Amino acid sequence: MATPTVDRGLEDVVAAESKICFIDGKEGRLVYEGYDIRDLAEKSTFEEVAYLLWYGQLPTRGQLSDLSKRLESLRSLPVPLRDVMEHLPPNAQPMDVLRTAVSGLAILEPAETKPGPSSIGGALRLTAVLPSIISAADRFRRGLEPLPERPGLSHAAHVAYLLSGKTATELDVRAMDVALILHADHELNASTFSARVTASTLSDLYSAVTSAVGTLKGPLHGGANERVMAMLREIGTIDRAEVAVREKLARHERIMGFGHRVYKVEDPRATILREWSRRLGEENHDMRWYDLLRKVESVVHQEKGLYPNVDLYSGSVYTLLGIPDDLFTPLFAASRVVGWTAHVLEEYNDLRLIRPTALYTGPTRLTYVPIDERVAAEPASAVPR
Ligand code: SDX
Repeated sequence: MATPTVDRGLEDVVAAESKICFIDGKEGRLVYEGYDIRDLAEKSTFEEVAYLLWYGQLPTRGQLSDLSKRLESLRSLPVPLRDVMEHLPPNAQPMDVLRTAVSGLAILEPAETKPGPSSIGGALRLTAVLPSIISAADRFRRGLEPLPERPGLSHAAHVAYLLSGKTATELDVRAMDVALILHADHELNASTFSARVTASTLSDLYSAVTSAVGTLKGPLHGGANERVMAMLREIGTIDRAEVAVREKLARHERIMGFGHRVYKVEDPRATILREWSRRLGEENHDMRWYDLLRKVESVVHQEKGLYPNVDLYSGSVYTLLGIPDDLFTPLFAASRVVGWTAHVLEEYNDLRLIRPTALYTGPTRLTYVPIDERVAAEPASAVPR
């Protein structure tokens, strides 16, 4: 029998059938349930896209109004969870606090966690409450009480207010809405895949989202936008950009915000977020991030032929919205929770335990040696994997 080949990182492995999201990596197209992301970013809202991803069709005005009202009614934090969060160390990483809070919520609200179609209740609850969790974590670590809810705000306006602490302008709210739409789903990315693996065992939706939060935290996945801003702050001025980027590449460092496993051309989300970075820069009379990013982009493309991904410009948009760097990835999660939960529901609907195999490369017929007859392996070779 021919030795099977290993597709490291499951690259190009088709692991599921899905109707939720289509990516054309060659053409640079992203489609949610048949609708091009460029149309949705221009014409839709996060609530409407959430409905689309969960139910597979655009809502009527009545359906959208009902969904928006339900989401608004589910934004508050239960007191026991607030108590736990308030006593976490102030230097806890926001993604760790978010992961803990999602787990805690599952214990406090077990009714929402039954695997199957009823999990849509949990999907709504998590989508509504994640921004409140992120904001409360940020306020507690600064010794402040959580912000009071402001009724009547759209989801994007609510998120912009909670994460920046200020009343957002109309342009800021629209920028937030577009960012939330763009991050809502992306087919079988690592965090969504981990959510589907968890759901495929018939574990509950909150456990699946907890798996996904832990996966998104990684800098090769969700954590990149925070590192893009750290890189820009380290570069400082535009005249230093070219040398700084070349030095990083010479050290074989990854430049955060560039490259993608699927896109072989520009990530369409980067195209849209670049324009919002420019618009917000102009509104705030602060073009330094946009100008720096354009320069970095031209050097990386010239040197490595790499294109920007969704993380390159998202950090500058969030910075111009007044959001702290270490809340960027939690904000990514606050949007992607819609995609995660849509995929979990799809998995429940056509369940198959996800369990690949490995190509075993070790020995298979060793004889057991009694402990007193064993010779210690050289220290160099007796190390944990
Ligand atoms: C997201 O999967 C998704 O859909 C994710 C996402 C989503 O919406 O869920 O789109 C969100 O995660 C976007 C990606 C954010 N991460 C980063 O920006 C981190 C930096 N990018 C990379 O580490 C990398 O591009 C990945 C991880 C995103 C993709 O890596 P691959 O497909 O495994 O590609 P690779 O590592 O095999 O690299 C191929 C070549 C290598 O060169 P050689 O060693 O063969 O000479 O390209 C080079 C890499 O060195 N390369 C980079 C690079 N990305 C790839 N070189 C410098 N900087 C980079 N960013």
